[in-house]
Amino acid sequence: MSVDVTVIGLGYVGLPLVQEAVRAGLSVRGFDINQGVVDALNAGRSHIDDISDSELAEILAGGFQASTSEDVIKDAQTVVICVPTPLGEDGGPDLGAVEGSVHAIARNLTPGTLVVLESTTYPGTTDEVVRPILEAGGMRAGVDFHLAFSPERIDPGNPTFGAKNTPKVVGGHTPESGDRAAAFYGQFVDTVVRAKGTREAETAKLLENTYRHINIALVNEMARFCHDLGIDLWDVIDAAATKPFGFQAFYPGPGVGGHCIPIDPNYLSYNVRAKLGYPFRFVELAQEINATMPAYVVSRAQDLLNEDGKAMRGAKVLLLGVTYKPNIADQRESPAVPVARHMLDKGADLSYHDPHVARWDAFGDTVPAVDDLDAALREADLVVLLQNHRGYDVDAIAGASTRFFDTRGRVTPGERAHRL
Ligand SMILES: NC(=O)c1ccc[n+]([C@@H]2O[C@H](COP(=O)([O-])OP(=O)(O)OC[C@H]3O[C@@H](n4cnc5c(N)ncnc54)[C@H](O)[C@@H]3O)[C@@H](O)[C@H]2O)c1
Repeated sequence: MSVDVTVIGLGYVGLPLVQEAVRAGLSVRGFDINQGVVDALNAGRSHIDDISDSELAEILAGGFQASTSEDVIKDAQTVVICVPTPLGEDGGPDLGAVEGSVHAIARNLTPGTLVVLESTTYPGTTDEVVRPILEAGGMRAGVDFHLAFSPERIDPGNPTFGAKNTPKVVGGHTPESGDRAAAFYGQFVDTVVRAKGTREAETAKLLENTYRHINIALVNEMARFCHDLGIDLWDVIDAAATKPFGFQAFYPGPGVGGHCIPIDPNYLSYNVRAKLGYPFRFVELAQEINATMPAYVVSRAQDLLNEDGKAMRGAKVLLLGVTYKPNIADQRESPAVPVARHMLDKGADLSYHDPHVARWDAFGDTVPAVDDLDAALREADLVVLLQNHRGYDVDAIAGASTRFFDTRGRVTPGERAHRL
């Protein structure tokens, strides 16, 4: 039986796409190589913050099924690739999962199928890596089947913008492939934006994330000298943000985390260096500044302990919020990990509290979770807010702490409450 779409890779990106397609009435299958993920989804258990079990129940009621069998690719009119693209050892993207899934598509490709790559990657991947694998069997992209790139811009945990109302950029290998891809997404995304080709669509995604990375680095660097000059940078940003044009507010923090911002700009700088032989200096500088923020936060924490005549060695330090962004459970690339590692190296007696993280993967039992937040606040020599989850009453927490260090700029500063 022919299905409208098969989604390959059922994670943070693939599953919300499945949800929107099912809601639009499309017949949808999912393919993933992880048997545990497939079994859990078919049993109604979601592993993604943005999809609850009840939403998954609706998806399954809409006819969705996940599978580890490539057969679900064969009958699909459209196949969308949403597999991971982590950084490889050489600093470029590790395309192993993309290549693996494209080979699976090639083995099952039928004439007229639309293949779309959504995974974030360097410019040229769709044309130089995906297309040759698909064409190896003799069919030609743009003639016998269609090929496009459409970056995923999903912002996990964002209550306002989801897969449906975030405009979708689409770049086809040929104009006809672009038309097919735009028509596909037009069925369940409010706004489809046509890029000239696959390379433009790939680069648009990298420009977006590089822009964020660089602007976060700008305020992170300013945070250091503003502190030394006795200037409240948070107040500075609030004032600057009143300009109705030409300025967008970015905020300092303990470092950048997640699967995108610390990683995607590297694809671009790697690609520029590999193809052209020169550096993308903005990215490399931003990388350097953002990567040193965890150590800077620890040195500021040491200074605060010093105010109370204490050393980091032996001090009871409580970390609040260890995920990479607020209100979700995702710990990938969280700057809380290097912060904790530096503190442990200096001998701190660490614990953490996070309503979304029952056990901190990076540390196991070395950094225990506290259940009773009030008692832990009383006992800690220093409390450091790393992630401002909804539900944290920051001023109340600061009031109950011996010393409070807020890396997110939410606390009302006071004698014992400090901002980055
Ligand atoms: N998470 C985000 O917020 C986000 C946002 C925008 C773009 N992206 C990009 O989207 C892509 C997917 O990211 P994600 O966060 O959804 O990853 P994820 O780890 O949540 O999910 C990926 C899924 O793909 C499966 N998989 C791996 N190799 C496979 C293969 N060869 N065949 C079939 N399935 C395979 C994994 O088992 C996993 O279930 C990445 O390129 C990422 O950079 C992610």
